[in-house]
Amino acid sequence: MAVTIKPDREFLFTEKDFNYLRKVANDYSGITVSDDKYDMYYARIAKRVRTLGVGDFAGYCKYLKNNHAKEFTNFINSITTNLTSFFRENYHFEFMVSDLIPEFKKKYATKKSLKIWCTAASTGEEPYSIAMTLAENFDLKAWDIRFLATDIDSNVLTTARNGVYEEQRIANLSKTRKSKWFRKGSGENKGTVRVDKKLREMVSFKRLNLIQEWPLKNKFDLIICRNVFIYFDGPTKEMILERYHDLLNDGGYLILGHSESIHSMNTDYETIGHTIYRKTI
Ligand SMILES: C[S@@+](CC[C@H](N)C(=O)[O-])C[C@H]1O[C@@H](n2cnc3c(N)ncnc32)[C@H](O)[C@@H]1O
Repeated sequence: MAVTIKPDREFLFTEKDFNYLRKVANDYSGITVSDDKYDMYYARIAKRVRTLGVGDFAGYCKYLKNNHAKEFTNFINSITTNLTSFFRENYHFEFMVSDLIPEFKKKYATKKSLKIWCTAASTGEEPYSIAMTLAENFDLKAWDIRFLATDIDSNVLTTARNGVYEEQRIANLSKTRKSKWFRKGSGENKGTVRVDKKLREMVSFKRLNLIQEWPLKNKFDLIICRNVFIYFDGPTKEMILERYHDLLNDGGYLILGHSESIHSMNTDYETIGHTIYRKTI
Protein backbone atom coordinates (compact mmCIF):
# COMPACT_ATOMS: atom_id res chain seq x y z
CA MET A 1 0.00 0.00 0.00
CA ALA A 2 1.25 3.50 -0.88
CA VAL A 3 -0.05 5.19 2.26
CA THR A 4 2.52 7.24 4.17
CA ILE A 5 1.72 7.14 7.87
CA LYS A 6 2.44 10.44 9.62
CA PRO A 7 3.25 9.55 13.25
CA ASP A 8 3.76 13.18 14.35
CA ARG A 9 0.07 14.03 13.99
CA GLU A 10 -2.31 14.77 16.86
CA PHE A 11 -3.84 11.25 16.62
CA LEU A 12 -2.19 8.03 15.48
CA PHE A 13 -3.90 6.72 12.30
CA THR A 14 -2.41 3.40 11.23
CA GLU A 15 -2.83 1.51 7.99
CA LYS A 16 -4.92 -1.05 9.87
CA ASP A 17 -7.30 1.73 11.09
CA PHE A 18 -7.55 3.17 7.58
CA ASN A 19 -8.27 -0.24 6.05
CA TYR A 20 -10.93 -0.94 8.64
CA LEU A 21 -12.71 2.41 8.15
CA ARG A 22 -12.63 2.35 4.37
CA LYS A 23 -14.01 -1.19 4.32
CA VAL A 24 -16.89 -0.23 6.63
CA ALA A 25 -17.59 2.80 4.39
CA ASN A 26 -17.44 0.75 1.20
CA ASP A 27 -19.63 -2.09 2.51
CA TYR A 28 -22.35 0.37 3.49
CA SER A 29 -22.24 3.05 0.80
CA GLY A 30 -20.45 1.52 -2.19
CA ILE A 31 -17.95 4.41 -2.07
CA THR A 32 -14.51 3.11 -3.04
CA VAL A 33 -11.70 4.69 -1.06
CA SER A 34 -8.29 4.68 -2.75
CA ASP A 35 -4.95 4.93 -0.89
CA ASP A 36 -4.64 8.62 -1.70
CA LYS A 37 -7.68 9.33 0.50
CA TYR A 38 -5.65 8.56 3.66
CA ASP A 39 -5.10 12.26 4.48
CA MET A 40 -8.71 13.09 3.66
CA TYR A 41 -9.90 10.38 6.05
CA TYR A 42 -7.60 11.71 8.74
CA ALA A 43 -8.95 15.25 8.33
CA ARG A 44 -12.60 14.16 8.27
CA ILE A 45 -12.53 11.69 11.16
CA ALA A 46 -10.03 13.45 13.49
CA LYS A 47 -12.96 15.69 14.50
CA ARG A 48 -14.90 12.65 15.71
CA VAL A 49 -11.82 11.28 17.54
CA ARG A 50 -11.47 14.63 19.34
CA THR A 51 -15.18 15.08 20.12
CA LEU A 52 -15.56 11.54 21.47
CA GLY A 53 -12.25 11.61 23.39
CA VAL A 54 -11.34 8.10 22.18
CA GLY A 55 -7.57 8.77 22.11
CA ASP A 56 -6.64 7.79 18.56
CA PHE A 57 -8.06 6.18 15.40
CA ALA A 58 -7.77 2.66 16.84
CA GLY A 59 -9.94 3.93 19.70
CA TYR A 60 -12.38 5.35 17.15
CA CYS A 61 -12.57 2.04 15.22
CA LYS A 62 -13.37 0.26 18.47
CA TYR A 63 -15.96 2.90 19.40
CA LEU A 64 -17.62 2.63 15.97
CA LYS A 65 -17.81 -1.16 16.29
CA ASN A 66 -19.25 -1.08 19.81
CA ASN A 67 -21.61 1.89 19.36
CA HIS A 68 -22.90 1.23 15.88
CA ALA A 69 -26.39 2.65 16.40
CA LYS A 70 -25.04 5.85 17.97
CA GLU A 71 -22.03 6.59 15.77
CA PHE A 72 -22.61 5.06 12.36
CA THR A 73 -24.57 7.99 10.88
CA ASN A 74 -21.90 10.45 12.07
CA PHE A 75 -19.24 8.29 10.45
CA ILE A 76 -21.06 8.11 7.11
CA ASN A 77 -21.83 11.83 7.18
CA SER A 78 -18.11 12.50 7.80
CA ILE A 79 -16.81 10.51 4.86
CA THR A 80 -19.16 11.64 2.07
CA THR A 81 -17.96 14.30 -0.35
CA ASN A 82 -20.77 16.78 -0.88
CA LEU A 83 -19.31 19.25 -3.38
CA THR A 84 -22.12 20.86 -5.39
CA SER A 85 -23.34 24.22 -6.66
CA PHE A 86 -26.34 25.93 -8.26
CA PHE A 87 -26.62 25.14 -11.98
CA ARG A 88 -23.45 23.02 -11.91
CA GLU A 89 -22.77 21.60 -15.40
CA ASN A 90 -25.18 24.09 -16.85
CA TYR A 91 -25.48 22.35 -20.24
CA HIS A 92 -27.80 19.83 -18.57
CA PHE A 93 -30.16 22.65 -17.60
CA GLU A 94 -29.94 24.10 -21.11
CA PHE A 95 -30.89 20.66 -22.45
CA MET A 96 -33.88 20.53 -20.09
CA VAL A 97 -35.16 23.87 -21.43
CA SER A 98 -34.45 23.23 -25.12
CA ASP A 99 -35.42 19.54 -25.43
CA LEU A 100 -36.67 17.76 -22.37
CA ILE A 101 -39.36 20.11 -21.14
CA PRO A 102 -40.91 20.67 -24.61
CA GLU A 103 -40.93 16.86 -25.10
CA PHE A 104 -42.58 16.25 -21.71
CA LYS A 105 -45.16 18.97 -22.37
CA LYS A 106 -46.13 17.27 -25.61
CA LYS A 107 -45.98 13.70 -24.32
CA TYR A 108 -48.01 14.42 -21.17
CA ALA A 109 -50.27 17.15 -22.58
CA THR A 110 -53.36 15.32 -21.33
CA LYS A 111 -52.41 13.94 -17.93
CA LYS A 112 -50.14 16.89 -17.13
CA SER A 113 -48.03 15.07 -14.58
CA LEU A 114 -44.34 14.41 -14.22
CA LYS A 115 -42.17 12.46 -11.80
CA ILE A 116 -38.55 13.32 -11.18
CA TRP A 117 -35.87 11.85 -8.91
CA CYS A 118 -32.59 13.54 -8.03
CA THR A 119 -30.59 10.73 -6.44
CA ALA A 120 -27.48 12.35 -4.89
CA ALA A 121 -28.91 15.71 -3.95
CA SER A 122 -26.27 16.80 -1.41
CA THR A 123 -27.07 20.17 0.21
CA GLY A 124 -29.88 20.96 -2.23
CA GLU A 125 -28.34 23.30 -4.80
CA GLU A 126 -28.87 20.75 -7.59
CA PRO A 127 -32.54 19.87 -6.91
CA TYR A 128 -33.38 23.57 -6.38
CA SER A 129 -31.72 24.42 -9.72
CA ILE A 130 -33.91 21.77 -11.35
CA ALA A 131 -36.98 23.07 -9.49
CA MET A 132 -36.24 26.62 -10.72
CA THR A 133 -35.93 25.34 -14.30
CA LEU A 134 -39.26 23.52 -14.00
CA ALA A 135 -41.05 26.42 -12.31
CA GLU A 136 -39.83 28.81 -15.01
CA ASN A 137 -41.12 26.56 -17.79
CA PHE A 138 -44.29 24.88 -16.53
CA ASP A 139 -47.58 26.27 -15.35
CA LEU A 140 -47.39 24.72 -11.89
CA LYS A 141 -51.08 25.35 -11.26
CA ALA A 142 -51.96 23.09 -14.18
CA TRP A 143 -49.16 20.49 -13.84
CA ASP A 144 -48.69 17.95 -11.08
CA ILE A 145 -44.91 17.69 -10.70
CA ARG A 146 -43.64 15.22 -8.10
CA PHE A 147 -40.01 15.79 -7.32
CA LEU A 148 -38.05 13.50 -4.99
CA ALA A 149 -34.48 14.34 -3.92
CA THR A 150 -32.42 11.83 -1.93
CA ASP A 151 -28.96 11.38 -0.44
CA ILE A 152 -27.23 8.97 1.94
CA ASP A 153 -25.98 11.82 4.18
CA SER A 154 -28.52 13.03 6.76
CA ASN A 155 -26.64 16.29 7.49
CA VAL A 156 -26.76 17.52 3.90
CA LEU A 157 -30.47 16.73 3.76
CA THR A 158 -31.10 18.99 6.77
CA THR A 159 -29.32 21.83 4.96
CA ALA A 160 -31.24 21.05 1.78
CA ARG A 161 -34.63 21.12 3.53
CA ASN A 162 -33.84 24.46 5.18
CA GLY A 163 -32.71 25.90 1.85
CA VAL A 164 -30.50 28.54 3.47
CA TYR A 165 -27.18 29.34 1.77
CA GLU A 166 -24.35 31.87 1.95
CA GLU A 167 -25.31 34.68 -0.45
CA GLN A 168 -22.04 34.17 -2.29
CA ARG A 169 -23.23 30.75 -3.50
CA ILE A 170 -25.76 32.42 -5.80
CA ALA A 171 -23.35 35.12 -7.05
CA ASN A 172 -23.35 33.72 -10.60
CA LEU A 173 -27.14 33.57 -10.97
CA SER A 174 -28.95 36.20 -13.00
CA LYS A 175 -30.52 39.19 -11.19
CA THR A 176 -33.95 37.94 -12.20
CA ARG A 177 -33.37 34.50 -10.69
CA LYS A 178 -31.91 35.96 -7.51
CA SER A 179 -34.87 38.20 -6.88
CA LYS A 180 -37.50 35.71 -7.99
CA TRP A 181 -36.28 32.61 -6.14
CA PHE A 182 -34.31 33.81 -3.08
CA ARG A 183 -35.15 35.83 0.04
CA LYS A 184 -32.31 37.76 1.68
CA GLY A 185 -31.67 37.12 5.37
CA SER A 186 -31.56 40.01 7.83
CA GLY A 187 -30.24 40.51 11.37
CA GLU A 188 -28.29 37.44 12.41
CA ASN A 189 -29.08 35.86 9.01
CA LYS A 190 -27.47 38.72 7.08
CA GLY A 191 -25.24 37.42 4.29
CA THR A 192 -27.48 34.41 3.68
CA VAL A 193 -30.35 33.76 1.30
CA ARG A 194 -33.26 31.36 1.59
CA VAL A 195 -34.78 29.50 -1.32
CA ASP A 196 -38.34 30.69 -1.95
CA LYS A 197 -41.10 28.64 -0.29
CA LYS A 198 -42.61 27.72 -3.64
CA LEU A 199 -39.44 25.87 -4.64
CA ARG A 200 -38.94 24.35 -1.18
CA GLU A 201 -42.46 22.94 -1.38
CA MET A 202 -41.80 21.42 -4.79
CA VAL A 203 -39.04 19.11 -3.54
CA SER A 204 -39.44 16.24 -1.12
CA PHE A 205 -36.08 15.37 0.54
CA LYS A 206 -35.57 11.82 1.83
CA ARG A 207 -32.63 9.74 2.98
CA LEU A 208 -31.85 6.90 0.58
CA ASN A 209 -28.78 4.71 0.11
CA LEU A 210 -28.30 3.87 -3.57
CA ILE A 211 -26.80 0.47 -2.82
CA GLN A 212 -29.56 -0.67 -0.49
CA GLU A 213 -33.32 -1.22 -0.90
CA TRP A 214 -35.20 1.67 -2.50
CA PRO A 215 -38.61 2.16 -0.90
CA LEU A 216 -40.04 3.54 -4.16
CA LYS A 217 -43.24 2.43 -5.82
CA ASN A 218 -43.78 4.86 -8.66
CA LYS A 219 -41.85 5.19 -11.87
CA PHE A 220 -40.03 8.33 -12.95
CA ASP A 221 -39.81 10.30 -16.19
CA LEU A 222 -36.40 11.73 -15.33
CA ILE A 223 -33.63 10.53 -13.01
CA ILE A 224 -30.71 12.84 -12.26
CA CYS A 225 -27.71 11.10 -10.74
CA ARG A 226 -24.71 13.36 -11.07
CA ASN A 227 -21.24 13.10 -9.60
CA VAL A 228 -21.76 10.08 -7.39
CA PHE A 229 -20.97 7.28 -9.88
CA ILE A 230 -17.33 8.44 -9.76
CA TYR A 231 -17.14 6.92 -6.26
CA PHE A 232 -18.54 3.50 -7.26
CA ASP A 233 -16.86 0.50 -8.89
CA GLY A 234 -18.08 -1.00 -12.20
CA PRO A 235 -20.42 -3.71 -10.83
CA THR A 236 -22.06 -1.20 -8.45
CA LYS A 237 -22.67 1.23 -11.32
CA GLU A 238 -24.12 -1.54 -13.49
CA MET A 239 -26.41 -2.67 -10.68
CA ILE A 240 -27.71 0.88 -10.11
CA LEU A 241 -28.14 1.50 -13.85
CA GLU A 242 -30.30 -1.61 -14.12
CA ARG A 243 -32.44 -0.53 -11.20
CA TYR A 244 -32.82 2.97 -12.70
CA HIS A 245 -33.89 1.31 -15.93
CA ASP A 246 -36.64 -0.63 -14.10
CA LEU A 247 -37.80 2.58 -12.42
CA LEU A 248 -37.95 4.74 -15.54
CA ASN A 249 -41.12 5.09 -17.58
CA ASP A 250 -40.80 4.17 -21.27
CA GLY A 251 -38.64 6.77 -22.97
CA GLY A 252 -37.62 8.17 -19.59
CA TYR A 253 -34.34 10.05 -19.22
CA LEU A 254 -31.24 9.53 -17.09
CA ILE A 255 -28.70 12.31 -16.58
CA LEU A 256 -25.27 11.53 -15.10
CA GLY A 257 -22.33 13.77 -14.13
CA HIS A 258 -19.98 15.17 -16.79
CA SER A 259 -17.28 12.48 -16.30
CA GLU A 260 -19.66 9.58 -15.80
CA SER A 261 -20.24 8.34 -19.34
CA ILE A 262 -21.74 4.85 -19.67
CA HIS A 263 -20.96 4.79 -23.38
CA SER A 264 -18.71 1.74 -23.15
CA MET A 265 -21.08 -0.21 -20.90
CA ASN A 266 -23.62 -2.71 -22.16
CA THR A 267 -26.88 -1.06 -21.10
CA ASP A 268 -30.38 -0.49 -22.44
CA TYR A 269 -29.98 3.27 -22.73
CA GLU A 270 -29.37 5.31 -25.85
CA THR A 271 -27.08 8.32 -25.71
CA ILE A 272 -28.92 11.59 -26.35
CA GLY A 273 -26.27 14.15 -25.36
CA HIS A 274 -23.21 14.46 -23.13
CA THR A 275 -24.00 12.08 -20.22
CA ILE A 276 -27.71 12.28 -21.13
CA TYR A 277 -29.41 8.92 -21.76
CA ARG A 278 -32.86 7.61 -22.68
CA LYS A 279 -34.36 4.26 -21.76
CA THR A 280 -34.67 2.33 -25.02
CA ILE A 281 -36.66 -0.79 -24.14
C1 LIG B 1 -20.19 15.15 -5.03
S1 LIG B 1 -21.83 15.10 -4.39
C2 LIG B 1 -22.75 15.45 -5.86
C3 LIG B 1 -23.91 16.38 -5.61
C4 LIG B 1 -24.75 16.73 -6.82
N1 LIG B 1 -25.35 15.57 -7.41
C5 LIG B 1 -23.94 17.48 -7.85
O1 LIG B 1 -23.57 16.91 -8.87
O2 LIG B 1 -23.66 18.67 -7.63
C6 LIG B 1 -22.08 13.35 -4.14
C7 LIG B 1 -23.24 13.03 -3.21
O3 LIG B 1 -23.50 11.63 -3.29
C8 LIG B 1 -23.90 11.19 -2.00
N2 LIG B 1 -23.70 9.72 -1.91
C9 LIG B 1 -22.55 9.03 -1.81
N3 LIG B 1 -22.80 7.71 -1.74
C10 LIG B 1 -24.14 7.56 -1.80
C11 LIG B 1 -25.01 6.41 -1.76
N4 LIG B 1 -24.55 5.16 -1.64
N5 LIG B 1 -26.35 6.64 -1.84
C12 LIG B 1 -26.84 7.91 -1.96
N6 LIG B 1 -26.06 9.01 -1.99
C13 LIG B 1 -24.72 8.84 -1.92
C14 LIG B 1 -23.00 11.99 -1.05
O4 LIG B 1 -23.53 12.06 0.26
C15 LIG B 1 -22.94 13.35 -1.75
O5 LIG B 1 -23.87 14.25 -1.24
